[in-house]
Amino acid sequence: EHPQHPQHSGHSAGHTGHGAAARSLTSLTADPDREADVAITLVAREQRFRLPTGRPVDGYTLNGTSPGPVIHASVGQLVQVRLVNESVPGGITLHWHGVDVPGAADGVAGVTQDAVGVGGSFTYRFVAGQAGTFWYHSHQVSHEQVRRGLLGALVVAPERPSTGVVDVVALMHLYDGARTINGREGDVRTEARPGERVRVRVINTENGQTPVWVGGAPFRLAAVDGTDLHGPAPVRDTAVLVTAGGRADIEVTMPEDGSPVRVHVGGRAGVVLGSRSYDAPAVPRPAVTLDPLSYGTPAPLGLDADRPDRRFDYEIGRRPGFLDGRPGVWWTINGHMFPDVPMFVVAEGDVVRVRIVNDSGEPHPMHLHGHHAVVLSRDGVRATGSPWWVDSLEVGAGETYEIAFVAGNPGIWMDHCHNLPHATEGLVAHLMYE
Ligand code: C2O
Ligand code: CU
Repeated sequence: EHPQHPQHSGHSAGHTGHGAAARSLTSLTADPDREADVAITLVAREQRFRLPTGRPVDGYTLNGTSPGPVIHASVGQLVQVRLVNESVPGGITLHWHGVDVPGAADGVAGVTQDAVGVGGSFTYRFVAGQAGTFWYHSHQVSHEQVRRGLLGALVVAPERPSTGVVDVVALMHLYDGARTINGREGDVRTEARPGERVRVRVINTENGQTPVWVGGAPFRLAAVDGTDLHGPAPVRDTAVLVTAGGRADIEVTMPEDGSPVRVHVGGRAGVVLGSRSYDAPAVPRPAVTLDPLSYGTPAPLGLDADRPDRRFDYEIGRRPGFLDGRPGVWWTINGHMFPDVPMFVVAEGDVVRVRIVNDSGEPHPMHLHGHHAVVLSRDGVRATGSPWWVDSLEVGAGETYEIAFVAGNPGIWMDHCHNLPHATEGLVAHLMYE
């Protein structure tokens, strides 16, 4: 919802017969007259840089580093980011992964804007509507530009942040085969005192699902994809899987005896929390994996998924054919390959229910722009835990998911696989408001 433009809210736009033509572009931007609360300029460069171990990376930086700076905002603040392309060939954009930005700020080259060429700039403006862990990345030749470093973390704090909580970002990324957290190959150390609460914001910018687990203390899975879970109970000896493009906030209370805690991030280095000592031994990945479908306690969804206004089937397959004139075996959606996948058309205010079936033989981390969807069931097993809202959902080979969302953000929105090479191989669809 964009309350600053009440003339465009509700069902009217979709039901008066004017459709897309009736919608002015200004309804897809943040209030142009409002001053920014958080303003930052990001300068993108093609650059050879070194990881702290000395390993050179031929990549791209934002303000001289990769990942780029962590952007901090609070709920309700207007964030304004000016992107300047100093020297990245082929043009760049920034997409605010997981943030339900207005359409014009979504950063999809060729859909919501043109890519920003060398010497050019583009300004993104959006209100941070939801507290949580997000990230940003280029959405032009994403499979190459994300991998080479055009990315960073975005943390939105709640209006009244809980005091005394240690907050740590752990952005995992693969640079030329080197697994890193916050751009370093080793452990990230953070000071946390006995009894203190810590929130570790794990961001998976890689192409595959990655496990996270904790040694030395129980933990809670506090949030997924920027939405807090309801009633998350502490668990031990349990791994959490973080979807490609997805986020998991891990909450730990430090042991009273002062011993350190290790948050394993993908089995490589981790985040080590401690005060006197950071000597937290590695522990093997637990055999048990947390299932968000049955974790936490139920709460109202805010939508009636049993009476949807639209129902869609979204069947992921694979078949031989031509993509941009290239022969190959490509991913399909309902039998079609991008760009020949028919748009999923909705009207503003619709409750939309989607059945995703993956018959393609491989897992796909599906990412929906501009919306959050709630998971209703997997393989016919209904969700019984906390509402599990996602923007990035791992759909395993052979799995069927039912999800639902409210069409509350007019525009044209991508829905694609965040195993980014797959998006270049046909696994892209669009959601459009009529
Ligand atoms: Cu994080 Cu369309 O991407
Ligand atoms: Cu995929």
